[in-house]
Amino acid sequence: MPRQFFVGGNFKMNPISRGQKESIISVLNSADLDSTTEIVIAPPSLYLIPLKDTVRSELQVSAQNCYFKDSGAFTGEISPAQLVDAGIPYVILGHSERRTLFHETSEFVAQKTKAALNATLKVILCVGETLPERETGQTAVVVQKQLQAVVDVLQESDWGGVVIAYEPVWAIGTGKVATSAQAQEAHLDIRTFLSQAVSPAVAENTRIIYGGSVTAANCKELSTQPDVDGFLVGGASLKPEFVNIINARRN
Ligand code: PGA
Repeated sequence: MPRQFFVGGNFKMNPISRGQKESIISVLNSADLDSTTEIVIAPPSLYLIPLKDTVRSELQVSAQNCYFKDSGAFTGEISPAQLVDAGIPYVILGHSERRTLFHETSEFVAQKTKAALNATLKVILCVGETLPERETGQTAVVVQKQLQAVVDVLQESDWGGVVIAYEPVWAIGTGKVATSAQAQEAHLDIRTFLSQAVSPAVAENTRIIYGGSVTAANCKELSTQPDVDGFLVGGASLKPEFVNIINARRN
């Protein structure tokens, strides 16, 4: 079975007004979207439920984070059980902004991944190296370490609910996109790692998407790489060009 192309829009802490949100959604709701692409948008949590109710049915909605407990005294957190109850199918975990700005360790990300999957959420699991790590040849080691923490807590059957987003930190929000060769090399390394650390079937079936300064201008070439199964898009997901990225594999 070929892996279904996957495009996620990570709105981060944007937009700042409901008017802007409505204009992004009206572009998506009226666009001609490739029906073979799985499309997920991840707005700030306060927009999850209204967006789920107003976007066209082909678009799924994702949280940008969650905690690992079902309920309790955890001020400011959202639980996997609450997301499931609200009809939200996906959550992004381990984004580099959470790892860096909010000091999330790989073990913490793994714990949250396990809890989210147990609650029946699907997880967009982000990994990626910093510029100094790339420049000192540590990309594969760093990414494998981030993944190993997750491998350690998941069962083989859990992987059906995981999409891995390879997002080099130096490419996020910088306008410096990885070349298609750099992306392909990192994605193949991840697939090879999954094959050894989990199983060949999981390696073959898991979508590995690229994130970091993806735009309408660079998405087509990246999408031709055999191990690039889609994108996680930040800045460009707030613009009409997100439609072109969703349709990257068309023509
Ligand atoms: P960017 O962000 O597309 O703005 O670089 C990607 C991401 O953080 O997921």
